[in-house]
Amino acid sequence: PKTAVELLEEKRTKAMQGGGADRIAKQHEKGKLTARERVELLLDSGSFREYDMFVEHRCTDFGMEKQKFAGDGVITGHGTINGKLVYVFSQDFTVFGGSLSETHAEKICKNNHTLFIDWFVIAKDIVQIMDKAMLVGAPIIGLNDSGGARIQEGVASLGGYADVFQKNVTASGVVPQISLIMGPCAGGAVYSPAITDWTFMVKDTSYLFVTGPDVVKTVTKEQVCAGEIPEESVTQEELGGAKTHTTKSGVAHRAFENDIDAIQKLRQFVDFLPSSNKSGIPRRATDDPADRKEHSLNRIVPADPNKPYDMRNVITKLVDDGDFFELSPEYARNILTGFGRMEGGTVGIVANQPVELAGCLDINASVKAARFVRFCDSFNIPIITLVDVPGFLPGTDQEHNGIIRHGAKLLYAYAEATVPKITVITRKAYGGAYDVMASKHLRGDSNYAWPTAEIAVMGAKGAVEILFRGKSAEEVAKQEKNYADTLTNPFPAARRGFIDDIIVPEDTRKILCEDLKVLEKKDLKNPWRKHEADPS
Ligand code: COA
Repeated sequence: PKTAVELLEEKRTKAMQGGGADRIAKQHEKGKLTARERVELLLDSGSFREYDMFVEHRCTDFGMEKQKFAGDGVITGHGTINGKLVYVFSQDFTVFGGSLSETHAEKICKNNHTLFIDWFVIAKDIVQIMDKAMLVGAPIIGLNDSGGARIQEGVASLGGYADVFQKNVTASGVVPQISLIMGPCAGGAVYSPAITDWTFMVKDTSYLFVTGPDVVKTVTKEQVCAGEIPEESVTQEELGGAKTHTTKSGVAHRAFENDIDAIQKLRQFVDFLPSSNKSGIPRRATDDPADRKEHSLNRIVPADPNKPYDMRNVITKLVDDGDFFELSPEYARNILTGFGRMEGGTVGIVANQPVELAGCLDINASVKAARFVRFCDSFNIPIITLVDVPGFLPGTDQEHNGIIRHGAKLLYAYAEATVPKITVITRKAYGGAYDVMASKHLRGDSNYAWPTAEIAVMGAKGAVEILFRGKSAEEVAKQEKNYADTLTNPFPAARRGFIDDIIVPEDTRKILCEDLKVLEKKDLKNPWRKHEADPS
């Protein structure tokens, strides 16, 4: 007879096969890795500790009692990414299409729950909280590949979703949460990724939508009959593929070529993240000197104020080793957001992008940047803001869609943030947008301007057209020069102390590094409140 250990190994081997060889082959045919292969690739070799491998569903309807797979379609546990502890769940499409049952949800929640039990235990032990928070507070990563709620279980699986949502909300701002969509994610399932901090997708094999193409067609057909709207016919890819969500909707923040590319980039991304809201920012050794002078920055801003330049080049010249992990690069391209490092420590960077819409703030840019600023503030990541903004984008479309309330979100996020905030105005800082972009008035710690900065209510041309309406062309030209000399330069702001200094562009990295060091111990708290009233 087999020994107890042999029986265990036998059961373990069976569980490792998920839905079986045929379904695994099907998964591979689609160009996708299995749930287990993904976890192996994501985590440092040998670091994965799995939980709940033998959990099975409890459903007895539709003959389900005869169909059981150990693990119930999701692999959960913890491991490390370049030494950093992370918790992971990976949905197994080979088992009931990765669909979420009551027990599947319990596994995901338990994974997070363990984290919270530990968190509260250590929170009581004030002396050890810093060390143990590093040890226990850890990012949660979901690898999503699921046909949605387990149809056979009905409301039990819907309840399971809500349990996951609740955990996501409770963990928000406590530990970073990342969703990597690697297959279907439809219906209620989409709201877990939506609540997590960052959503990444794999091109061509993943999609996210609340209602699929068939439902869209049926519903719009009814509306066509009622004479309301034209019938809509749309593919899965058009409706909710990686391109759609990273360019149009802004729901996902990066799209990657395939499973392997996505997982490798996710590993790089996790390196930038703090483990929790108590852990402090990660630091990594660098050979890039903090006092590196970057001469090319002295010439990067064109003499003609209407000529664009790529702000991405400014960022890569400032951060360690030119390493900038951009978020939402194809969405609201008029603002850049992402992580870099200065002297090895993570910083969040927000920058107007003059090559797109002249760097104007519009609805999408405001929402994109506000979310980024709030993430940085939640996890104590210093924010560097590079400003070249001619104002908010004018137009009925923007006004009618609520630029006022959406623009306010960015203002709100900056004003609320208590992390170190360093701002460099490279060229234009006009009107209300000057205030919004981490100005001194919103508790900016260090506010600098390059000599090319123009800080004013508006540009010279627009200002003179209002002030000298009806005057001769000669007079207008004279006044335009006068206005530019008097007001569109950094000195009026410097004279009031609204900027702390006018700096030579080549010294920017050195000054930023020095200031970040000084601000490391910054301790600013907002007054107690339950939470803010929703700024949206
Ligand atoms: N509940 C239970 N089982 C499910 C499921 C679900 N929600 N979604 C998929 N499955 C099962 C299928 O029955 C199939 O089982 P099998 O391997 O025993 O044959 C397996 O998962 C694979 O599904 P299949 O339809 O063959 O894969 P596909 O790649 O052709 O299509 C989907 C994938 C997700 C598009 C399709 O399965 C689907 O539409 N599922 C339902 C989605 C939905 O409406 N969910 C509820 C929304 S919350």
